[in-house]
Amino acid sequence: MIFTVAIDGPAAAGKGTISRAVAQRFGFRHLDTGLLYRAVGVLGGDPAEAARRLTPEDLERGDLRTLEAGQAASRVAALPDVRAALLDFQRRFARGEGGAVLDGRDIGTVICPEAEVKLYVTASPEVRAHRRWLEVGGDEAKVLAEVKERDARDMGRADAPLKAAEDAAVIDTSSMGIDEAVEAACVLVAERLHAR
Ligand code: DC
Repeated sequence: MIFTVAIDGPAAAGKGTISRAVAQRFGFRHLDTGLLYRAVGVLGGDPAEAARRLTPEDLERGDLRTLEAGQAASRVAALPDVRAALLDFQRRFARGEGGAVLDGRDIGTVICPEAEVKLYVTASPEVRAHRRWLEVGGDEAKVLAEVKERDARDMGRADAPLKAAEDAAVIDTSSMGIDEAVEAACVLVAERLHAR
């Protein structure tokens, strides 16, 4: 069976948690595509070269989840050569046998427009910054500024900008608990699976 669930949205909207839960519920493989860009960002050197040489071990690094790695990822993600180098791997993962969940910014629009389920998970910048601040601490106003800066760069870039695919179902988690958001996503996936 080939079945792709594309989950896009801005940082800290809840797409990682939803993606992992959907993958576990349905027994699908999961790829957090942000990790690819984070690894390229922290590896340094020529970003396109780093993207071409990326290994599975690079995705296991312990320093990929920091705010700095997120900013570095967002910067290298604006480079068309970097995106091109990562495209085939993501497409093969998406359309491999067994069902796959991919979360990122351009999965439903560019990587896998034919995905059987497309979700756009979002929340207000303030809510997302608050969640991120609970994880990382520090100055909440600074975290909010960082969230807004990353949104602007990810949505404003010319190549594969963050936006909802026209046929994506939007899940706004601003005033939703994570369990409710997971359930909403699972219902949409189950409906689509059973319709096949
Ligand atoms: O999902 P994340 O916060 O780990 O993503 C880090 C950055 O990587 C994000 O700000 C933009 C970029 N990214 C992207 O351009 N396309 C993707 N499919 C995933 C991430």
